[in-house]
Amino acid sequence: MGLIAEDMIRQIIDRSDIIDVIGRYVTLKKAGNSFKALCPFHHEKTPSFVVNPDKQIFHCFGCGVGGDVVGFIMRQERVEFPQAVRFLADQAGIVIPEDQEQAPGPSKNLKDEIYKINEWALVFFHETLLTSRQPKPKAARDYLKSREVDLETVKRFRLGYAPDEWDSLIGVLKQRGVSLELMHQAGLVIAREKSGYYDRFRGRIIFPIFDINSRPVAFGARSLSEHEGAKYINSPETPVYTKGRHLFGLHLTKTSVGEVDHIVIVEGYMDMMMPFVHGVKNIAASLGTALTVDQIRLIRRYSSNVIMLFDTDPAGQAAIVRSLDLLIDEGMNVKVVTLGDGQDPDSFIRRFGVSALGDRLKQAQTLFDYKFNWLAGQFNPQTIEGKTKISQDMLTTISRFKSEVAKFELMRLLAKQLNVPETVILKQAQNQWKSSSQMNRPVTQQAPVQTVKGMKPQEELLIALFLDDHQWAQKAQELLKLEDFTEGLARDMVQKIWRMTQENLEWTDTQLMAKLEDQQAQSLVAKLLSGVHARKVDPSRVFGDCVKLIQTEGIEKQKGQLQKEIQETEIRGDTVDVGTLRRFEELNRRVKNRG
Ligand code: CTP
Ligand code: MN
Repeated sequence: MGLIAEDMIRQIIDRSDIIDVIGRYVTLKKAGNSFKALCPFHHEKTPSFVVNPDKQIFHCFGCGVGGDVVGFIMRQERVEFPQAVRFLADQAGIVIPEDQEQAPGPSKNLKDEIYKINEWALVFFHETLLTSRQPKPKAARDYLKSREVDLETVKRFRLGYAPDEWDSLIGVLKQRGVSLELMHQAGLVIAREKSGYYDRFRGRIIFPIFDINSRPVAFGARSLSEHEGAKYINSPETPVYTKGRHLFGLHLTKTSVGEVDHIVIVEGYMDMMMPFVHGVKNIAASLGTALTVDQIRLIRRYSSNVIMLFDTDPAGQAAIVRSLDLLIDEGMNVKVVTLGDGQDPDSFIRRFGVSALGDRLKQAQTLFDYKFNWLAGQFNPQTIEGKTKISQDMLTTISRFKSEVAKFELMRLLAKQLNVPETVILKQAQNQWKSSSQMNRPVTQQAPVQTVKGMKPQEELLIALFLDDHQWAQKAQELLKLEDFTEGLARDMVQKIWRMTQENLEWTDTQLMAKLEDQQAQSLVAKLLSGVHARKVDPSRVFGDCVKLIQTEGIEKQKGQLQKEIQETEIRGDTVDVGTLRRFEELNRRVKNRG
């Protein structure tokens, strides 16, 4: 895909009102001229996430992130700048001409086509299951009955049966004028080696997968017997379906999830359907994988409280453990339920009934207990090696919690469980976290950005002044050089601001935001625009002080470099030239005069 022209970007941003866009992810409440919400990027109980419709920016006073509408999408959808812009364009119904000319990616049209084709396929499978008098669909009905899936459930989930033929769906879709190429893009047919296509799903029960707007995005297909190849065959990735982006059943349960404010996550289709028809309405399935960040964020739109209810086999356990750290990173509260040997939620309900499942859900283990027990099953906690292994792994998990209190309490618990003094665990945590600490954590979960890295307080304050009144940016250019600013974030931002000021003194905050692709820079600007600095009192004094400090430091730096140069020359036994010495003295004098 090509670059997007700058005025195109501006147009897209103009048409994407930040309140509308963010309002799709969090509940915004009006507070004065702004809107408040619980921050989607860190876990909190009282809202410190503020969206300002006038400035079209967001800022979280809790974790420090902020930016414009593009920055929000970058963080929320975890995409880079161009994808975020395209995402917004798509939502605003804007077609980016550059994209059209160059490579027609999955355009809105293509996606709509595929939703429609999927719907036709779904209806065909569904009617075949409900009404066909052929023996095989009948056998499918009997099979579902044997698993206690009744007619109402079949209709609710729009289950189907794909005939055991090579081209029955192809025939149906052809009649509707769908090209084979499109069927292929929808993942419904497979290309033959030589030429032609055949139906992907044959002789199987069809479980449609919906997005949260109830559009069919993919299909899972179960064989009726355990001997016929893979138990499940699934749609490939298509323009409307990316694995790990959806949760099976959530379109039916999202409202209940929000109401009761917690969700039960299971692995399989039947594991979701069975509890659901028995009254567990806050449930969805990850479909046989560990939860992905995308899935977690989807869940978080409705609730932050998750109960993982996975199979007890090693694969299921591993999937839970892999999900746990991600869940903590995303600020979710997690509990875990394990059923007895070899049971999954579907078989458990059929054997013990739904109230027994309810009891298990009430007795869900804390994340700590679950992970500890899981580790204790692998390493003997009575031995020194076991204690070491377990404590290392537990501390890695504990380090991901945001709350210092939570971390501390969990470390105390760990010490107790391993029967070692608390101080030992604390010491180990210190060592372990120092070396690896923030490295493997997502940007959004890093420690609150109180002071910005790569920038001195005086630089931050000065930039704040530039934003308030562009005259300061003009004035500063007369007094300071770019090299006076710390290399990296500070210098880059000042350079951008100065350049904009030279071009046009009347630049807007939005224009600046759009120029900052770096998320840290965006956060900083949003923070400054949100008025966290009490700089309004006496701006010219603040300006003077900051400039002076930065100048002095600039001189000190030059002096230091010169000094080093002189020393090196002397060590080599050469004579230092007079010019250098004069410059050094001059710098010395200037420092003293300021002092
Ligand atoms: N799965 C898959 N492909 C497979 C096996 C499993 O996609 N070959 C996914 C399916 O989404 C399935 C989930 O992993 O629902 C869990 O797998 P499993 O526990 O093996 O199946 P169940 O859902 O329990 O299916 P059933 O009860 O019908 O045996
Ligand atoms: Mn099962």
